[in-house]
Amino acid sequence: MFQRLRQKWKVNGPQLALIICTFAIGGSLTGYAGRTLLNEFGIHQNWLWVVLYILLIIMLWPLAVILVSIPFGQFSFFLKYIRKIGKRAGVVRSRESGVRSQPSGTKLTTHIAIFASGAGSNAQKIIDYFRDHSSIKVALVVCNNPEAGVLKIAVRENIPSLIIEKEKFFRGNAYIGKLKEKQIDFIVLAGFLWKIPSLLIKAYPGKIINIHPALLPNYGGKGMFGHHVHDAVIANKEKESGITVHYIDELYDHGQIIFQARCPVLENDTADSLAQRIQALEHYHYPAVIEGLVGKLTR
Ligand code: GRF
Repeated sequence: MFQRLRQKWKVNGPQLALIICTFAIGGSLTGYAGRTLLNEFGIHQNWLWVVLYILLIIMLWPLAVILVSIPFGQFSFFLKYIRKIGKRAGVVRSRESGVRSQPSGTKLTTHIAIFASGAGSNAQKIIDYFRDHSSIKVALVVCNNPEAGVLKIAVRENIPSLIIEKEKFFRGNAYIGKLKEKQIDFIVLAGFLWKIPSLLIKAYPGKIINIHPALLPNYGGKGMFGHHVHDAVIANKEKESGITVHYIDELYDHGQIIFQARCPVLENDTADSLAQRIQALEHYHYPAVIEGLVGKLTR
């Protein structure tokens, strides 16, 4: 059971012990405070006492565990935990703007698939961003390279992954069946190096986006990935570069531009130093752009 809790909450052993202590002490404090308050008001133990006691417990418990969590060093865990419960109970508004609850009978959660072939630093940021999201879930990682770092991230994050083969992707059904099986609503490319077949684009119209580490329409197209992009930007003595989020079409880095952010290219920049600046922009903006687009879809 402890092992399962550690995985679920992504904490180590000592932290789990502190969390359990906080729950125990916070719970006891809540019970004690509830009983004391009711006695102070002279309420006798009858059905009204029970009802008031339950109400008091519900109101006091979050306060008690938050207070106890401070000396135990678990404040941020409990803040998140209580927010999550509050969101589920509908008493805490989601911090996300734009994503509204859907009419009953429709799907409440939008499932995202991340397509990635590499290290997966963007995938990690997207997963982190949507971990406790009320209406968006990263439900699948799709990868064409069994050695890719992104697959390790998927395992660590408990997200199912799908390794795809070229033949089936381009000449089969583009794994549409598998994506539908996982109820994927929206596809996010994050370092995925293959083109997207028309079949898949038609199955997800306006629902597949990509991020490119330059200001498109410049420095895009076949072969323009990773350091090739930054080398070209530096070689052309550009004063600025940036990132572009765009819809996918049948050509490389070509679909309609959704969002761009810029950064300077410095005199002494190398492809590495520029890549770092660009990556920081990607990590900062991409998850929020995805959230905004999904929000529009579900409105
Ligand atoms: C990013 O620079 C992205 O713009 C491009 O591929 C890279 C992926 O990096 N499409 P990572 O695997 O997310 O670290």
